[in-house]
Amino acid sequence: MSLFGKQQDFFGLDISGTSVKVVQLKPGPSKPTLVAYGGMVLPVGSMQSDSEVDLQNVSNAVRQVVKKAKIAATQCVAALPGSGVFTSIIRMPAMPKSELADSIRWQAKQYVPSPLEEVILDWHVVGEHAAKPSGYTKPPGGGQPDPRADDDKLPSDKEIEVMLIAAPIALVRKYVKIISGAGLKPLALEIEPLSLARSIVGVRQEPTVVLDIGQAGSEISIVENGVIRLNRNTTAGGGALTRAISQSLGVDANRAEQFKRDFGLRADKLEGQIPKATKPVLDTLISEIRRSLDFYREQPHPLGEIREMVAVGGTSRMPELLPLFSGTFGVEAKIGDPWANINYASGLKQQLQELAPSFSVTVGLAMREM
Ligand SMILES: Nc1ncnc2c1ncn2[C@@H]1O[C@H](COP(=O)(O)OP(=O)(O)OP(=O)(O)O)[C@@H](O)[C@H]1O
Ligand SMILES: [Mg+2]
Repeated sequence: MSLFGKQQDFFGLDISGTSVKVVQLKPGPSKPTLVAYGGMVLPVGSMQSDSEVDLQNVSNAVRQVVKKAKIAATQCVAALPGSGVFTSIIRMPAMPKSELADSIRWQAKQYVPSPLEEVILDWHVVGEHAAKPSGYTKPPGGGQPDPRADDDKLPSDKEIEVMLIAAPIALVRKYVKIISGAGLKPLALEIEPLSLARSIVGVRQEPTVVLDIGQAGSEISIVENGVIRLNRNTTAGGGALTRAISQSLGVDANRAEQFKRDFGLRADKLEGQIPKATKPVLDTLISEIRRSLDFYREQPHPLGEIREMVAVGGTSRMPELLPLFSGTFGVEAKIGDPWANINYASGLKQQLQELAPSFSVTVGLAMREM
């Protein structure tokens, strides 16, 4: 594989509900170097629709962003929105590789909420433990084969943990259609938490909570030793905060957006109306984070306790939001920097730091295979 061949001819493409962002990197001596980046806001509602016209609009936006960023590559790695994809970590007895695929498929039937014919199933073995006596419970299902039936071939004292990923075929087709419509070829589609694990957490071993607080919602994941242990979504995000401020204070969406950015949760501004207005949305987000932490703590976690929470997504810049998380969860909450392990011209520093929270997924996509 040539250093400047394969890798350089792809870029990271992040199509979110509201925007298109691109980043291209090239391998460097110690860390990748930034080649190009760019982004634009999408026409309102276009990603929420499946009509030909809207998809074509999104394709056109992608084409424009790529052109403006002067990216010549035609291959991209793109992200699928976490909210559309089912993920779960399941525990099962260790078994020969040849039997794993069938067994996982059978297990997936119990867990994946939609028919398996309608999803693309992917899985990764993410851990191995000594089996607890109660660690594996046979899923209900009467005459279903028990994956433990082949006990003679199994190292039955071991359990494995498998991350199941089920992406609806319709969603994958939509992304492929948008990308091909822009004259590009998708090299790979991956879930957002994987990209974030790469750009935000990197090689850190200790468990870290990653919060992506975007526009349409928030995604919570716990990453440990490069592996995603858990992944959860909620619609409590920047859009919901703006709507809450707009309704509660009786101001239009633009004004509410400005209040959110300027004052955030500061109690000394506007007589504390913003913290009050946004409380229901933040309560939802906080309870989802708490559930994730509780779930993690209930599982075996040999790499220790969670001490750090890293927030990305545009909303993570809302004043006083991270201190609220630090206080609530008793862990250090800080803003993630996807550029930390990237070389770039020093003159770009200020702009890139401003874009950092919104470009975290995009940078992670561009880092794939580097
Ligand atoms: N300085 C700021 N303070 C508060 N909120 C901000 C700030 N800057 C951006 N935002 C909010 O961040 C959100 C956009 O974040 P981001 O770019 O991560 O979203 P997205 O990736 O397009 O959306 P999603 O991932 O939800 O589909 C918007 O709700 C915007 O209002
Ligand atoms: Mg996003």
